[in-house]
Amino acid sequence: MFSHRTNWDLKPNRLSEALARHRTNDRPLLDLTASNPTECGFQYASHAIMRALCSPRTIEYRPDPKGLEPARRAVAQYYADRGARAAPANMVLTTSTSEAYSFVFRLLCNPGDEFLIPTPSYPLFDFLADIQDVKLKRYPLIYDHGWQIDMHALEQAISDRTRGIIVVHPNNPTGHFTRPEEMAALNQLCMAGKMAIIADEVFLDFSLLPQPPQSFCANQDGLTFTMSGLSKISGLPQMKFAWLVISGPEQLKREALARLEMIADTYLSLNAPVQLAASVFLEMRHGFQQQVMPRIRANLAELDRQLGAQNKCSRLHVEGGWYAVLRVPATRSDEDLALELLDQRSVYVHPGHFYDFHHDGYLVVSLITPEKDFGSGMKQVIELCSGG
Ligand SMILES: Cc1ncc(COP(=O)(O)O)c(C=O)c1O
Repeated sequence: MFSHRTNWDLKPNRLSEALARHRTNDRPLLDLTASNPTECGFQYASHAIMRALCSPRTIEYRPDPKGLEPARRAVAQYYADRGARAAPANMVLTTSTSEAYSFVFRLLCNPGDEFLIPTPSYPLFDFLADIQDVKLKRYPLIYDHGWQIDMHALEQAISDRTRGIIVVHPNNPTGHFTRPEEMAALNQLCMAGKMAIIADEVFLDFSLLPQPPQSFCANQDGLTFTMSGLSKISGLPQMKFAWLVISGPEQLKREALARLEMIADTYLSLNAPVQLAASVFLEMRHGFQQQVMPRIRANLAELDRQLGAQNKCSRLHVEGGWYAVLRVPATRSDEDLALELLDQRSVYVHPGHFYDFHHDGYLVVSLITPEKDFGSGMKQVIELCSGG
């Protein structure tokens, strides 16, 4: 009855089952994975948000497959504020970055074609690829005082079916940005092999680096699809508003845009009210980010304070994003450790294997967790890992 591409193992994993039991039993929970910004205690200008959705033009239906022009201009302004140029004509709006990935896979891949993805990284790619009949090959990121792409392994992973390379900038959960020399190497490979670069920049604004990192939307060498959206930038995932910026050699860019416009026209998936409110929601990023960055810094400082008082656990270097990777003793599997933390200490963390870490000894925590929970939860994690 069903397609092979949906033959997923849909059984909940041991940790989700344990979490569901924990919640049904009404036990207290210190959730160190909290990453839904609307549930992390940030202040939102609720009335202004609701007012922005009430434009008289919401009554009209005048769709534009690439997205309404004022909304694309608002996205262009977002990049201009960062000192980057992204013309409204070179954009396609989507309901989410997940939808943007799907459009790009549809544009570039025949069934069975391949994309390269970083590992460790964000766990949604496998499903996105399965649904579009795309195969994923992994290229390793290596950690040596900081993260970097294993360029040799990446080159080895390229085959004649490879249509593009995905970079997450900064990556989730490793929190590192693609370096300018890595961008240059990726451009060389993509231009030589007729491949595209797909840059996922949903966390671009959450940088801890001294200088703001460059967006890939300025990349003119290889054909480049840069994506982001309101989910993280303004902390408004419920609005379902994201975008794709296309840059690169003129002829390729024009052809990609024309084909993407057709894909987008087939769905016309964005609603008018959110597009009409986009400029207001994008402006709201300042108020949101002014709350998030101090929280990330405070949680990292608290983490370092607690880690400094012991020698069993440490953390990996973070350059940006919402997550920290903890290095813990690999005395049991990461999943067993996460289960113990939940059952014995009411603390919820993600085991490294959720993000494709290949060895035990890694836990991932969210740095946007409310400070009090973060401090109390980390105390429990460190105590349990230290055999306390
Ligand atoms: C790296 C990365 N890309 C994309 C997304 C999804 O964003 P959207 O809500 O726009 O689909 C997430 C969500 O956590 C993410 O971590």
